[in-house]
Amino acid sequence: MRHLLLPSAVFLALAGGLAWHGPAAAAGQLNLLCSVQDEWCSLISTTFARTSGIKVNLLKRGTGEALAQLIAERANPKTDVWFGGTGDPHLQAAEQGLTLEHKSPTLPQLHDWAQRQAQQSGWRTVGLYSGPLGFAYNTELLAKKKLPPPKCWKDLLSPALRGEVQAANPASSGTAYTMIATIVQLMGEDAAYAYLKGLHRNISQYARSGAGPIKAAARGETAVSISFVHDAPGEQMQGFPIATVTPCEGTGAEIGSMSIVKGARNLDNAKKFYEWALSPAAQQLGVAAKQFQLPSHRQTPLDPRIPDFRQIKFIPYDHAKYGRSAERKRLIERWEREVNSLAR
Ligand code: G6P
Repeated sequence: MRHLLLPSAVFLALAGGLAWHGPAAAAGQLNLLCSVQDEWCSLISTTFARTSGIKVNLLKRGTGEALAQLIAERANPKTDVWFGGTGDPHLQAAEQGLTLEHKSPTLPQLHDWAQRQAQQSGWRTVGLYSGPLGFAYNTELLAKKKLPPPKCWKDLLSPALRGEVQAANPASSGTAYTMIATIVQLMGEDAAYAYLKGLHRNISQYARSGAGPIKAAARGETAVSISFVHDAPGEQMQGFPIATVTPCEGTGAEIGSMSIVKGARNLDNAKKFYEWALSPAAQQLGVAAKQFQLPSHRQTPLDPRIPDFRQIKFIPYDHAKYGRSAERKRLIERWEREVNSLAR
C-alpha cells in the first residue's frame, strides 16, 4: 500500500485490474506515473491540481516497474506523464518508442546534463534532477558494533559487514540499476560481477524500491545501505542517525527524468504539467517535500542540504550506453543468474 497514493476509487479500480480511470478519462484530467518518493509525488500532484484545476490521478511506481507498466500499456496507453525516476529507463522508453518527442521552450534554461539527456533521447525525455550514488550508514549502529564507516566500494566487502548491507533489486529499482552500471563502468564487467558476488554475501535483502534501503538504515534495521545520498537529509530531518559518504574510487549520478507518453489521452494537460514541472517554482517543491536532488533548471534556488557535486569523485557515466534496452536487460539478467541466485 505504501506505493499507492490514490483516491480510494482509483485504488478500487486498480484492485479490480484496471490501471487507471477508464470511462471517466476526459479533458480536465491527468494520469501521472511517479517514480520519486511519495511525499514529492503527492505535493506535485496536489499543487498542480490546485493551481491548474486539472484532476490528477497519481500512481507511484519504482523506475523499473514504471517502464514495465508503459511497455504493458503500449497498445492502449493509460499514462500521460511519467515524472521522475532514474534516467536510464526513460532512455529505454524513448528507444522503444513509448514516449513522445517534445521540445520544451525551457530547455536552454536547464543544466547541460539535463539538455544532454533530452538530446540523447531524440527529445523524448528530459533531465529533471540529478543526484550521486553512495552509501548511507546508521551512525549509532556502527558505533555500537564498533565498525568503521565505509568509505570505498571495497569496504562493503568486509566480512565484518556480513548481513549488514542493504541495496535494492535492479529489476524494480532504477537506483539499483544505477549501482550495477556504475560498478561495471568503474571496474570493468567481469571484475564488477565478481565484486557483486562478494557484496551479495553481505546483503541482508534487496529491497523493491531504491529508497527502501536508506529507510531501513535510518531505522536501524540495517547498518549500511547503497543509496542516493540526496535521500539522507529527509531521514535526518526526521531525527534518524544517518550519515552518507560517496565512494573513494568514484561513483555514478542519476539524471532523474520526465517523459510524456506517446498516445497520451490527455495530451494538452500532459504538456501543461511537463512545462510547469520544469519551472523553478515547481522544482522548489522537491525541497518542500524533503527531497534534495539537484534541480535541472539553473534558476531553481539551491538548498544547502543538496549534495555539493564539486566535492564528489564522479565516473564519466555513459548514460547513452547504459540507457539502452539491450544493455539493461543483459546486465540485469547476468545479475539474476550469477549473483541473485547464489545462496547467502
Ligand atoms: C528515490 C530517489 C530518486 C530516484 C528514485 C528511484 O526516490 O530520491 O532520486 O530517482 O529513488 O527510485 P527506484 O525505486 O526506481 O530506485
